[in-house]
Amino acid sequence: MPPAQNIYDNEEFFEGYMALRGSELNANDTIIRPSMRDLVGDVRGLDVLDMGCGTGEMCLWMADSGAASVVGMDVSERMLEEAAKEPDERITYIHTAAEDASFEASSFDLAPVLRNIHTWLRPGGRFVFCMEHPIMTAGQGILEPGWVTDDESGLRAWTVLRYHDETERVSRWFVDGVVRYHRTMATIVNSLVAAGFRIKRMLEPHASEDLEGKWPKLLQERERPLFLFVSAEAES
Ligand SMILES: C[S@@+](CC[C@H](N)C(=O)[O-])C[C@H]1O[C@@H](n2cnc3c(N)ncnc32)[C@H](O)[C@@H]1O
Repeated sequence: MPPAQNIYDNEEFFEGYMALRGSELNANDTIIRPSMRDLVGDVRGLDVLDMGCGTGEMCLWMADSGAASVVGMDVSERMLEEAAKEPDERITYIHTAAEDASFEASSFDLAPVLRNIHTWLRPGGRFVFCMEHPIMTAGQGILEPGWVTDDESGLRAWTVLRYHDETERVSRWFVDGVVRYHRTMATIVNSLVAAGFRIKRMLEPHASEDLEGKWPKLLQERERPLFLFVSAEAES
């Protein structure tokens, strides 16, 4: 397995990403956070692992929502430095790539990423994650920006290219050389099932009507799904 990419420790990327997170219409505030909270649901009394926890925003929310314990893990030192600015005795942060992490079997009730995760979860424990939707990743690094406008109809459409080419997509996001791993929807679902997960619920969310009313630009997120959210249960 190739070493995990750690682009968030790249100075220029980190600054660009943090500025994006602080901007008014960022996807985290408008789409990711509400959907993630919806899927994660009730965490009271649960032992939770947050893989790719970043600045710890979700860890804090889960601790405040009554989780018994929260472990946040991230490959980026810079992101964990931000998380450390709001220390919380209920949360333990670990600096590691998900690919290198190891925990005792049956340690968690909820783990917001595959492979060892099934082992780490208790039977019935949940694996909740979000990722860029395959419709987004397919054309990355091939045709950008992905929006094209049809001359005749004036319709603006999102381009999906090389959907069945399940390889790396290297493109520019704040800096050159950001790698995404494109997988088809069938591969994502089949990998979960093969690892022993039962899919409970999936979301392909857009912004709420309320937010769309305030910022009509968000209506474009109805044309194609930006993210895929999955809640899957570990079968015993
Ligand atoms: C888009 S940020 C999201 C942070 C956080 N989950 C949130 O919602 O605020 C993605 C995070 O995943 C981390 N990450 C990416 N690949 C990882 C890996 N293989 N192992 C651990 N962390 C990883 C990055 O360093 C970054 O902090």
